[in-house]
Amino acid sequence: MARPVILDVDTGIDDALALIFAHRRGDLDVRAITCVAGNTGVDQVVLNTCAVLDLLAAPDIPVAAGATRPLVEPPRDASWVHGAGGLADLALPPSARQPAALHAVEILRREILAAATPLTVVALGPLTNLALLIRTYPDVVNRIERIVFMGGSASTGNASPVAEYNIWHDPEAAAIMLNSGVPLTMYGLDVYRRVIADTALLGELKASTDPLQRAVGALLGFEVAAPTGETYANPLIGDAGAVCGLVAPELFEFETWPVQVEFARGLSRGQTLVDRRRTLGEDAVHDSRREPWPRIEMAMSCDAERVMALFKDALRPKD
Ligand code: BDR
Ligand code: CA
Repeated sequence: MARPVILDVDTGIDDALALIFAHRRGDLDVRAITCVAGNTGVDQVVLNTCAVLDLLAAPDIPVAAGATRPLVEPPRDASWVHGAGGLADLALPPSARQPAALHAVEILRREILAAATPLTVVALGPLTNLALLIRTYPDVVNRIERIVFMGGSASTGNASPVAEYNIWHDPEAAAIMLNSGVPLTMYGLDVYRRVIADTALLGELKASTDPLQRAVGALLGFEVAAPTGETYANPLIGDAGAVCGLVAPELFEFETWPVQVEFARGLSRGQTLVDRRRTLGEDAVHDSRREPWPRIEMAMSCDAERVMALFKDALRPKD
């Protein structure tokens, strides 16, 4: 039986790649897509998501708008990375799909309760919708099988030297999710950065006669224009890798470590602190009130070539 999932997205180039990959996998049953402000504003995220579903000729999957901003700070989009509309320069036709009448949090609740087997949430944007769900419906949350989230890093950041964008955008929300007790798998920058399309594959996709493959070629081949005037290629499958980790965990190495989020205002706001010490520290010895940190499963490395092959395989035109 296909695994029931909800994707929580801020579509976004690599969220679009994740939607495409998830839809193409027969072992996933996408029950709903919930949208959050992140890479672009939430209304644009909804439009982008619906346009990608059209490209896939997907059935009528509920798409719901959620949080328009992080819990505390104003939204700070990443349109310089994803293009003004969030979807590179793909220019997909506007969709006639109508978003759900309910808020993303209500759709999450409804689908989690309706699922006959516990459902997996794949969170690919800032964690605001998940934090709102956890605070509004704490009992429902216990029915989630696992949240797989793209976010954080055990090494360096991207939004700041130490913080990854999704966590940096809403650190309070990330902290609520991390401390919720729901089983978590973190797909952070440690693996996110490793799955890269090479020039040959990009050329193949861009020259394809198949519209889906051409669209993926355009998404992967988008040149990022930094506000400083530099441009650079960024052919990562990104968020789609988190979905690969769900369907093919054997291609990844996972470790379990205590993790917390820094949400104090300062240089390290939004950093995921991964406690990889193997011995006791003075913090534990001298601070008896220190709560144990939640232990999180984290993808630390992967067989990037095989992950890329898995992604590519999902793009093969269906007979
Ligand atoms: C994450 O931030 C967004 O720009 C991407 O879609 C991805 O989810 C990477 O830091
Ligand atoms: Ca994303």
